[in-house]
Amino acid sequence: MQTLAVDHPLVAHKLTTLRDVNTDSPTFRRLADELVTLLAYEATRDVRVTDVTVRTPLTDADGVQLTSPKPLVVPILRAGLGMLDGMTRLLPTAEVGFLGMIRNEDSLQAQTYATRLPDDLSGRQCYVLDPMLATGGTLAAATKLLLERGATDVTAVVLLAAPEGLKHLEQELTGAPVRVVTAAIDSRLNEQGFIMPGLGDAGDRLYG
Ligand code: PRP
Repeated sequence: MQTLAVDHPLVAHKLTTLRDVNTDSPTFRRLADELVTLLAYEATRDVRVTDVTVRTPLTDADGVQLTSPKPLVVPILRAGLGMLDGMTRLLPTAEVGFLGMIRNEDSLQAQTYATRLPDDLSGRQCYVLDPMLATGGTLAAATKLLLERGATDVTAVVLLAAPEGLKHLEQELTGAPVRVVTAAIDSRLNEQGFIMPGLGDAGDRLYG
């Protein structure tokens, strides 16, 4: 598993405002959207492209276009929905599938309550969207599901990751073609499984 914490002043600036307890929901939604587009630039660095030739007004030029089958973008409901527009802005032709998952706040185990994905993901590159990688249980389950359906590789785009969650993911998905792209890796998880210093509950801050 590869992990990339994107080191960019605009990412750090937007994340700082997201963390601020005084940032209201409309501002939080807008900034999350902008931040995802910046992360998407890095997350799609290995997106598959095919060489093509294009005719300019003057002559032929070498170029590339996205390879078929199209990438699949999977926001994890509910909070991942706040990242979808930011991602599809850069990948407008991607197909979108949905996974509804919730973490039981007592056991911290992830439960799946909705799945709307193609059955066969053979040859597909997948991008999973979820703002928080806390214990890593949610992303481990989501990633395994996509790989079991044949995805060639999975890139998780998150706003914040905890070291404990990254370690868990690494253990659960040893050797799997998985990458995590995050705006930051925070210090730790607290006793309730929240990322510290974090930004609170992303779902609540996005959707109340
Ligand atoms: C949050 C978050 C992740 C999950 C992270 O969702 O959006 O999906 O918890 O926790 P984990 O890494 O410990 O599994 P939540 O369960 O609160 O659901 P929501 O998106 O509906 O608010």
